[in-house]
Amino acid sequence: MELFEAIFGRHNISKVKPDPVPREAIEKLLSAAVQAPNHHKVRPWRFVVLTGDGRKKLGDVMAASFLDRNPGTPPEGLDKTRALPLRAPVIIAVGVEKPAESKIIEIENVTAAAAACQNILLAAHALGLGVGWRTGEWARDPRVKEFLGFDADQHLIAFLYVGYPDVTPEPSERPGYEDRVRWIE
Ligand SMILES: Cc1cc2nc3c(=O)[nH]c(=O)nc-3n(C[C@H](O)[C@H](O)[C@H](O)COP(=O)(O)O)c2cc1C
Repeated sequence: MELFEAIFGRHNISKVKPDPVPREAIEKLLSAAVQAPNHHKVRPWRFVVLTGDGRKKLGDVMAASFLDRNPGTPPEGLDKTRALPLRAPVIIAVGVEKPAESKIIEIENVTAAAAACQNILLAAHALGLGVGWRTGEWARDPRVKEFLGFDADQHLIAFLYVGYPDVTPEPSERPGYEDRVRWIE
């Protein structure tokens, strides 16, 4: 796929099929991810790939966390939360390594990891896969972070829900750059 076709044709895919994604394809996405630029070559991205029962384990952690915050929720009230990670056959959680030296700046690590995410989105699109980027409360949940192996103060910037698209996305209206740019000449 031509680069500009990928950039302009990619859309957030909110619904994917349950069909499994070959491991080879997931590895291609990760390989594309790590081509992203990163200052001081710190490779600050950390990926956790959840498939199969791994997604169920994440769902159990989410449900437990929800119950903590909403004591008294009946078991059936937790089912919806528990099922959230089952919305895609593959979830790639993307965390950001904290700076280990003073010359390393946290925001630069975050931006490099975000660039890695965009590489995943474009590579997935080129492979006929769709990705829904999700964050929300779960990306800030300390129990979820702990389960994924991240510290509570580490940024978790994406849950990338990956699968074969089950929707034809309506190209969302994408305003141009004109009102977001200033030219200094
Ligand atoms: C940092 C970040 C977090 C996001 N979190 C969510 C989310 O929690 N739920 C969701 O439906 N979409 C989320 N999105 C996807 C955006 O809603 C989506 O990219 C936007 O609607 C533009 O659509 P497009 O990607 O198809 O152009 C997120 C995107 C980014 C970059």
